[in-house]
Amino acid sequence: MRVLGIETSCDETAVAVVEGPPGTAPVGRILSNTVYSQLSEHRRFGGVVPEIAARAHLERIDGLVEQALSDAGVELADLDGIAATGGPGLIGGVMVGVMTAKALAFAHEKPFLAINHLEGHALTVRLTEAVEFPYLLLLVSGGHCQLLTVRGPGDFTRLGTTIDDAVGECFDKTAKLLGLGFPGGPAVEKAAAGGDPKRFALPRPMWRKPGCDFSFSGLKTAVRQTIEKLAVEKLPADDPRAIADLCASFQRTVGDVLADRCANALAMAPAPTLVVAGGVAANLYLRQRLDEVAAANGAKLVAPPVKLCTDNGAMIAWAGVERLRLGRTDDLDFRPRPRWPLDLALDPDAANRV
Ligand code: KG4
Ligand code: ZN
Repeated sequence: MRVLGIETSCDETAVAVVEGPPGTAPVGRILSNTVYSQLSEHRRFGGVVPEIAARAHLERIDGLVEQALSDAGVELADLDGIAATGGPGLIGGVMVGVMTAKALAFAHEKPFLAINHLEGHALTVRLTEAVEFPYLLLLVSGGHCQLLTVRGPGDFTRLGTTIDDAVGECFDKTAKLLGLGFPGGPAVEKAAAGGDPKRFALPRPMWRKPGCDFSFSGLKTAVRQTIEKLAVEKLPADDPRAIADLCASFQRTVGDVLADRCANALAMAPAPTLVVAGGVAANLYLRQRLDEVAAANGAKLVAPPVKLCTDNGAMIAWAGVERLRLGRTDDLDFRPRPRWPLDLALDPDAANRV
């Protein structure tokens, strides 16, 4: 099973070709994985501008498809399916990817697969590791923070979600307040190295509360107030020591909260494997904390390689392989979806889709 995957839901235009074994077994092979990051186009705005993103996807997508095919050494005729992120995400970008995939599928008479971006993140681990269903998933990205039981493609139960901000957003905001640039996650992680994680006591929303929901807006506010206070005390906000200590304290606080929520999830829905996925899963400190909480609760933490945590085409191609193997292809009249929950019980439009 060889599938081309297109990802255009945010600020990366990404195309990959992935090959998977027959049946339902995990572990595939990445034949190519090309990405054009629009970072430089959005940087001066301090965030992703949807119109700029959509235009940039449109400009790059055809070239990236050609590149992905040539890197993989395959022709369109050699493919078994064409997959694209069908949502959730910035709708202009999603439309560019879906339109491109549909056109290729139609012209070359290949099955089309509309992939939920979150399912892409959720299944990525099986592209590189022999992880069997079911597993517990902590999905942490720029737009999402959820705990789910994953039983297979399209088969998820959400145990908890954030009631306000996503954790990646909180990293991005912290970095912005500290003038560390965008995207904030890697910058905060880098600045935290060598900082004192105990210097600033920050609130841990939802910590030790029952259930698996998250909240980060209080933490975001506390970071802002701490920075303001530092400035008032005439400690320059660009003092590298203060920045390192605040980043380390922030990261430790996020680690405390994520570990606490995962412990509850493992108690509510025991599973042999805890998987962490999404952009924030690239954070090595947080991985370490999750590794500890998994071990303390009789589970094992498995994470995709760092470079497959942030948005990429391989995760969409792999989800395409997983779906294609089950015969779950989509019609060419599939409509891109700005919102698309993974848990069908929470999806008002679930009846429209298998
Ligand atoms: O999954 P992703 O690439 O895009 C979305 O689907 O949102 O996640 C991007 C998010 C951003 O908020 C970024 O700051 C965060 O992941 N991120 C990190 C790290 N690398 C990326 N957060 C913490 N530590 C990192 N090393
Ligand atoms: Zn993502």
